[in-house]
Amino acid sequence: MTATDQALRDLDTLEAEGITAFTSAGQPDALEAVRVEFLGMKQGRVKLAQEQLKSLDPAAKRVFGQRFNAVKTALEAAFEQAKLASSRPTQVVEGLDVTLPGRRSKLGHRHPLTQTADELIDIFGRLGFTVVRGPEVEDVHHNFDALNIPPTHPARDPADNFYITDRMMLRSQTSPVQIRVMENQPPPVRVIAIGRVYRPDAVDATHSFMFHQIEGLMVDTNVTMADLKSVLRLFARSYLGKDVKIRFRPSFFPFTEPSVEVDMLWHGGDRWVEMGGAGMVDPNVFKAVGYDPEKVTGFAFGLGIERLCMRRHGISDIRLLYQNDTRFLAQF
Ligand code: DAH
Repeated sequence: MTATDQALRDLDTLEAEGITAFTSAGQPDALEAVRVEFLGMKQGRVKLAQEQLKSLDPAAKRVFGQRFNAVKTALEAAFEQAKLASSRPTQVVEGLDVTLPGRRSKLGHRHPLTQTADELIDIFGRLGFTVVRGPEVEDVHHNFDALNIPPTHPARDPADNFYITDRMMLRSQTSPVQIRVMENQPPPVRVIAIGRVYRPDAVDATHSFMFHQIEGLMVDTNVTMADLKSVLRLFARSYLGKDVKIRFRPSFFPFTEPSVEVDMLWHGGDRWVEMGGAGMVDPNVFKAVGYDPEKVTGFAFGLGIERLCMRRHGISDIRLLYQNDTRFLAQF
């Protein structure tokens, strides 16, 4: 083999090794090291190959020179291409396995209170109750007068209500919706109303200045207290589970006679917590809406939705339901 042949072979090797090195360099600093090794101005292998030119005779110089220029151009191109590739982020992610399943983007879901409300609507729907609504800004007539709450009753105290004017207020209970329904339709009635109510209560683990109630009203001929108790027991079992314990205590509300308070045994089983009030609709309420108390009877109830939701899920503090902390909400 002549010296020229050997020199040409060395050029082939240089080209092959250079291209492999550039295409596999990857990271920018590794690529720079390869650049210095091959294209370095002083000790680069291309530079050293060029020095061989000097020792060749003129004919060999022509052949070798052409090939040398081609190799140099090829390696410079390989370097430029590798440089471009290394600056593209997708090319430098290590351990990227494109065959893995994609990451599902997170979907939100309904707030636990909304879930509770929807479930209550479902349960009472199966018992024949339809859903009605009433305004949150209510007049004193519907919130108190028509509910047989006397003008001097302590429930009207400005310290216990959010009055807007003398006659307008944020409703303190969902019971006014009963009045609005009966004012607008003759008996029989079987409705529930769900919504926000407002009272300037001091906030603690079981109280808030705004909370939600579900109001129920059933009016027909011969509706009795036994109907009320079975409906509430059935409801409690459906929503809180078969072994939930509830109890009825004699109580007083101006709009029912007789009246009861309904308690549920709290999670942990060590105390009773009030779930709401109920009773047989007072004849004075029927008179206020133009129903004949000699012809119809009815029961009504009003339950706190937050407490139902808390009992169901073992939530210990009502404030968690309003803070919108996704670490809390994600659990429901
Ligand atoms: N409105 C009462 C309250 O907020 C709860 C209540 C008691 C509602 C008896 C009723 C009822 O419909 O019959 O404390």
